[in-house]
Amino acid sequence: MGEPASKTKPLDPALEKLLEQARQAAVRSYSPYSGFRVGAALRLTSGEIVTGTNVENVSYGLTICAERAALVRAVAEFGPGIRIVAVAVANLNGAASPPCGACRQMLAEFVLPDAPVVFPAADGVRTMAFNEVLPLAFEMRLK
Ligand code: THU
Repeated sequence: MGEPASKTKPLDPALEKLLEQARQAAVRSYSPYSGFRVGAALRLTSGEIVTGTNVENVSYGLTICAERAALVRAVAEFGPGIRIVAVAVANLNGAASPPCGACRQMLAEFVLPDAPVVFPAADGVRTMAFNEVLPLAFEMRLK
């Protein structure tokens, strides 16, 4: 009682598998500057799973997050028509790591609004629908 549902409810097996893929991707992280090792896994409508990890740079600012690394890889492998039906994020540091704002905006272009996003939160692994994670993505509607 009193605990968030995300902590008490066991994860759906398909999401647990996706999270495990994210953890495995995090092992390949290139993060010598922060030491923060992140992995992301995306499930596409086709059933394919595409993973990514964060790749840092000595410039710091050129660093790419795990989520965007996975996204660009998915487009490169399967083309611009991909649709993401689930997202999992993991890190090997035992810390909370919801996807950053830049990654949310990039994902918004390809993810289904109700796709589950699984990520490490302060209270354990949390699952939220993408449209809750990013309720007001930037859109460009030219007049
Ligand atoms: N990072 C991610 O990979 N995903 C996020 O959503 C936030 C941050 C990475 C970037 C950097 O390599 C390290 O975590 C510390 O910020």
